[in-house]
Amino acid sequence: MAYELPPMDKAKFIAAKRAVEFVETGMRVGLGTGSTAAWMVRCLGELVREDGLKITGVPTSSRTADLAREVGIDVVSLDKAKWLDVTIDGADEFDKNLNLIKGGGGALLQEKIVATASDRMIVIADASKEVGTLGAFPLPVEVVPFGWNTTKALIEEMLISLDVLGRLVTLRMNGRQPFITDEGNYILDLHLKRIGGPHQMAMVLNQIPGVVENGLFIDICDVVVLGYGDGRVELRDINEGTVQEEHLDFVESENLFTDMLD
Ligand code: A5P
Repeated sequence: MAYELPPMDKAKFIAAKRAVEFVETGMRVGLGTGSTAAWMVRCLGELVREDGLKITGVPTSSRTADLAREVGIDVVSLDKAKWLDVTIDGADEFDKNLNLIKGGGGALLQEKIVATASDRMIVIADASKEVGTLGAFPLPVEVVPFGWNTTKALIEEMLISLDVLGRLVTLRMNGRQPFITDEGNYILDLHLKRIGGPHQMAMVLNQIPGVVENGLFIDICDVVVLGYGDGRVELRDINEGTVQEEHLDFVESENLFTDMLD
């Protein structure tokens, strides 16, 4: 079936396609959540089905678990896998140090646990995710439902002493109900506009009772694979200090696009 992807999706697909080249048979692979990560899961599924790649996947959300099974990837829990070779995930923002904001899709807790339990974290992104300073994207913070309003007030008070431009904190909704994470928690979105000290912010947030985890991923990401709609791809490796540019021929695989249209 002929199907022309919009440029943004092409960029996500290119990043995903290049990132799965890091995966080898026998690896335990953390599978991220979100629209870019979904491309990566589809690309991995294709390698499993058509090239005989043998991997074990550890999903970071129930959505990703469903998709992984659907495309033929063996899925196990993190408890079973214990430690992973690599995690590939998307991000809402990344800066020049490859620090991230994640959690736009509400899966930040499992994503952070899985990424931290991996030898390597690879982020796949399109150019819209790159920022000079983190914080234009609202920072998601997962909180327990019990006393969430008090937790929110404590966060607001804490923000007064931090280097931010905005201090609005909102409860994420799903229609008229609070959005519920896979772990049964709520998400507070912190509209900070600019986070001057992401290390400090990440540490201070996690000290507030009621906060389960925050969406700042500091010193966790090793490589960003940045895709462009014209097939260009850039690999930025923070450990090696290298930036590598490549070009992928964009071949629209029948299977992947059939999956996409389902
Ligand atoms: C999921 O909770 C998030 O961390 C996603 O990884 C992030 O929101 C990126 O999603 P997209 O690839 O859909 O932009």
